[in-house]
Amino acid sequence: MTSESNSSAVPGFCDKAPAEVAELRKCLSIAQQSLLASEERIGTLERRLAEQTRELTESNQALRRNIAALEESKQRLREREAKLNSIFNAAVEGIITIDRNGCVVTANAAVKAILGYTEEELVGRSINLLMPPEQAVQHGRYIKDYIDHGHSKIIGSIREVEARHKGGWSVPLDLSLAEFCIDGEIYFTGILRDTTQRKLQEQENREHLEELAHVTRLGLMGEMASGIAHEVNQPLTAIVAYTEVSLNLLKMSQLDTEKLAGILAKTHQQALRAGQIIHRMRDFIRSKTATRTLVCINQLIRDCIGLCADDIKLQDIKLGLDLADDLPPVYVNEVQIEQVLLNLLRNAIEAMKDLAHDHPRRLAIHTRLDGRRFIEIGVEDNGPGIATAELAKIMTPFHTTKKNGMGMGLSISRSLIEAHHGTLRFTSLPGSGCTFYITLPSKEQANGF
Ligand SMILES: Nc1ncnc2c1ncn2[C@@H]1O[C@H](COP(=O)(O)OP(=O)(O)O)[C@@H](O)[C@H]1O
Ligand SMILES: [Mg+2]
Repeated sequence: MTSESNSSAVPGFCDKAPAEVAELRKCLSIAQQSLLASEERIGTLERRLAEQTRELTESNQALRRNIAALEESKQRLREREAKLNSIFNAAVEGIITIDRNGCVVTANAAVKAILGYTEEELVGRSINLLMPPEQAVQHGRYIKDYIDHGHSKIIGSIREVEARHKGGWSVPLDLSLAEFCIDGEIYFTGILRDTTQRKLQEQENREHLEELAHVTRLGLMGEMASGIAHEVNQPLTAIVAYTEVSLNLLKMSQLDTEKLAGILAKTHQQALRAGQIIHRMRDFIRSKTATRTLVCINQLIRDCIGLCADDIKLQDIKLGLDLADDLPPVYVNEVQIEQVLLNLLRNAIEAMKDLAHDHPRRLAIHTRLDGRRFIEIGVEDNGPGIATAELAKIMTPFHTTKKNGMGMGLSISRSLIEAHHGTLRFTSLPGSGCTFYITLPSKEQANGF
């Protein structure tokens, strides 16, 4: 396009100087170009804006969805918390949470019922407040040891402890502990069950058993009186014989002092034995409280055999002992277990009394450890055994097949053994004899009762 032809086509341009027109044309062209460029830029911006608006709408929708999901899980959490809270406060067991320093973080309503403190009174205070002073001293160390070494016997197990009530008295509890972590901080939750009622019941049972044992001891006394009289008679007869010999020796012209001293020593021994038998009887009747000590059962068996030694010799009974040498001591009332053993020995000896003269009589006693938790004592004889019709009756009170029997020995023995958390049973082969078995918890086991 030339400047001449263009100038004639634009109205008003004809009266302008050609240089001016050219200048105006140039300006116009520049303005047109920049208009085009601006339009293009506006187009690009509009496209970008539309894109961003779409993106924003999408993320807005995603955000709305997230907020809704968050609201939902918040609602679920609130429901869960309400549910847990109602369990927490309705629980019969006290639930206390403490932090690593032993400070109470939460306590439920049952804690007030058990220990008298409200949650407000406990939160922020040391758990030692609820412990007897001697335990409180050690408690901080227990927690520290556990955190440092991760080792505790109590986590996950139930333990019997004493807690201190707000009123100052102690409350027996079963305590179980669990731990948990929040944001790297360790917490402990203790679940406390008040065992006061159970303890009272146990105490009542114990007192009842002790009373029963006392009453039965009195009954046993009657039964044993004839046996004891018989036993005391033995040393007395011996004393009479020895003193007669001594008197005869004194009458002799030449006094054999050595012989006399020997006989007097034997007399002395027999007198002591008679005294021991009577003491034993007296202790047995008097002892109202069943004091328990650690007892070596094998030794107790040997002592009892010593008390029946005369009868064993008199009836020509062959005694077999098979006593385990790995028996742990048992925690028992020595007098009571001795009475049970004596009763079984006496029954066995009495059972063999009527065997034919030439029939060999055997009494076998064994002890053994039954799986480390119980010890077993067996007393076996080869007497007539127990007739099938009698089997169910022999342990019942006042059942006897003996002319002078009282029928209390076995029933009392069973009560005494059961008071020790043991058992008394028997096996019998009519015509060939019978064996009575006692089981008693070993020391470690007895600690658990
Ligand atoms: N070793 C035994 N052999 C046979 N019978 C036995 C034996 N031990 C107990 N008995 C039977 O059990 C009964 C009850 O025994 P026990 O209660 O000790 O009372 P008692 O000895 O006064 O009769 C005895 O009368 C006897 O019939
Ligand atoms: Mg008897």
